[in-house]
Amino acid sequence: MCKTQPDTRRRSRKRERGKSNLILGGGGREHALAWAVKQNPKCDRLIVAPGNAGIAELADCATLDILDGDAVSAFAAENAVDLVIIGPEAPLAAGVADALRTAGIAVFGPSAAAARLEASKAFTKEICDACGAPTADWAWFDDADEARRHVSDKGLPLVIKADGLAAGKGVVIPETLEEALDVVKMMFGGIYDAAGSSVVIEEFMDGEEASFFVLVDGETCLPIGTAQDHKRAFDGDLGPNTGGMGAYSPAPVLTPALQDQVMETIIRPTMAEMARRGTPYQGVLYAGLMIKDGRARLVEYNARFGDPEAQVLMMRLGGQALDLLQACAEGRPRGLRTWP
Ligand code: AMP
Ligand code: GLY
Repeated sequence: MCKTQPDTRRRSRKRERGKSNLILGGGGREHALAWAVKQNPKCDRLIVAPGNAGIAELADCATLDILDGDAVSAFAAENAVDLVIIGPEAPLAAGVADALRTAGIAVFGPSAAAARLEASKAFTKEICDACGAPTADWAWFDDADEARRHVSDKGLPLVIKADGLAAGKGVVIPETLEEALDVVKMMFGGIYDAAGSSVVIEEFMDGEEASFFVLVDGETCLPIGTAQDHKRAFDGDLGPNTGGMGAYSPAPVLTPALQDQVMETIIRPTMAEMARRGTPYQGVLYAGLMIKDGRARLVEYNARFGDPEAQVLMMRLGGQALDLLQACAEGRPRGLRTWP
C-alpha cells in the first residue's frame, strides 16, 4: 500500500473491528440465535449465558445469574460486550434490559414496562381495547367466586388464563363446565403461584393460528417473518399440547395482504399506544394470531422470539440477524428498513 493511504487504512481497520456479543438464555431459541449471530463476519466473540451443550460447540458459555440486571451489566462491561441479546421472557420481566440501558450497554429486548405485553394478559387486553386492536372478548377477575360465576353464566367454549407469567403453562381450554370451574379454583389456589392470583377469562376464538414476528425500535416496525409451530407432542397431531415441538416458516395462511392488515390493525396501533404511554417497545414483538374468514385477531403477544419458531426464522435470516438486532437496539430505523 502506498504512503499516501495510512489514514484510510486506519479508518477501515476501525470499521472492521470485530464485535463481542452476549446472548442470555440456554434453550433451542438461543442456540438458533447464536448460530445466526455467528454467521455474521462482524461477530468476533460470542458468549452465551448460561448456554447449553449444543451452544458450547459454537460459542463460549458463561455462568451468570441472567435475572440479575446488575450482574449482567457488570459481566457485559468486563467482557467489552457490544450488544446483549436477551432470549427468554423472564430476564425481560425482571428488568435486565433496563439495567443494561442504564449502564450504557446496547441491548436487544424491551424494558420491563414494555415486556408487560407478555408478562400480563390483562395488560395486553387493556392495550388492545385502548388502541382498537381486534382480540377475543375478555373479563378479568381477582376473586375466585366471581370468576366461577362468570364461567357458569357464559358457559363453554371459553379460555381461562393465569394473568401472569406461568412458563407457558397458564392457559386452559376446558372441555367441560366442571373442568372450567376446577381450573379457576386451582389457579386461585396457587397452582401457578402468583401468576394465577388474577385470571383472564376469554371468548374462545375458532380459526387457524399463526405467528408473526416484527422488529420494533420504539417507532419503526419491520416485519421479519411468519411461522407456525406443531403444538401436539406426538406425530399425527396427537398427544398433549406443548409450547411447540417444531415449526415451519413462512406460514402460508398469513398472506401478504393479511400481514398488511395485521400491521395496520394490530401491530402499529399497539406500538403507538405503548409509545403514547411513555413505554415504547424495543425488541422483537411476537404476535400470536387467530385467522378466520380472511381476518386476524390477536391471541397474545410475546416479548421475545418463539421457541421453536426462532429455529426456522434464524435459518431464513442467517447472519443479517445480527445487523438487524443491532440496528433495533441502537434505534437506527434506517438500519431496520434495509431488510430483506
Ligand atoms: P397464549 O399463551 O395466550 O398464547 O395461549 C396458548 C394457546 O392457547 C394459544 O396458542 C392458543 O392455541 C390457545 N388460545 C389462547 N387464547 C385463545 C382464545 N381466546 N381462543 C382460542 N384459543 C386460544
Ligand atoms: N412456541 C411458542 C412460544 O415460544 O411461546
